[in-house]
Amino acid sequence: MTDHPLQAWRDTLEELGVMGLVREPVQVAPVVATDPPPTRQPAVRPAPAPAPRPAAAYAPPTDPIGCPTAQAVAGATSLQELQLAIQGCLACPLGPGRLKFVFGEGDPLARLMFVGEGPGRDEDLQGRPFVGKAGELLDKMIGAIGLKREDVYIGNIVKCRPPDNRTPTPEEARACLGYLHRQIELIRPTVIVTLGATPLRELVGVSEGITRVRGQWKRVVVGNREIPVMPTFHPAYVLRQYTQDVRRAVWEDLKAAKEWVDKAQEG
Ligand code: URA
Repeated sequence: MTDHPLQAWRDTLEELGVMGLVREPVQVAPVVATDPPPTRQPAVRPAPAPAPRPAAAYAPPTDPIGCPTAQAVAGATSLQELQLAIQGCLACPLGPGRLKFVFGEGDPLARLMFVGEGPGRDEDLQGRPFVGKAGELLDKMIGAIGLKREDVYIGNIVKCRPPDNRTPTPEEARACLGYLHRQIELIRPTVIVTLGATPLRELVGVSEGITRVRGQWKRVVVGNREIPVMPTFHPAYVLRQYTQDVRRAVWEDLKAAKEWVDKAQEG
């Protein structure tokens, strides 16, 4: 006998601690955005940027040690062009130690964008964000709100692996932040979900403990847009603290983010 098609989805929800959805309905407290995002996004997405120039034809201007100039970053008109411009970056001490530059990946027009801290060992080997154990859980978290990894965009504060997976220093984060800002400008997400304390501090400027502020709407201004930010736990933390409470908290945060995206889409 084959499994019901919803079986895998239900298993994932249960694994994330959303036990009552299928078998035992439980009262889930409504998600209250304590500081609701001030802006609504237009229902219709702006027309996509003009088709990118062929990658091979693009030679980004660089400074003498191979780092992209600010004009090359600001002038990139697609993610592909931006990646070409910055993937040889040596602007901070992390550059020389990397195996692969981890640019980020996903839908270039994603409405929901996730920002983590920085690549770990698996990401450094593969050149892709969140592909290790934490990535597996992130995929499940995304699945639990009815989306697939390809539907969202996943990036990091720093694009090269910090040694021993330590937290990036403020200097390293600052050296990389312009790249992330340009990515956000090109993607134009409706909502950003920050994973853990580092992206919340370095991208949004909020240094309060993540346990205190998770689930509370924040905002970040990138370019000329103000973007609602939903802070939640880092999946690596969820793996370490695999309790029902932590998993439910993440589920509620992602559900609130997805609801905001859907509302914005309705207009
Ligand atoms: N942790 C992160 O913050 N980012 C990754 O890409 C992988 C693990």
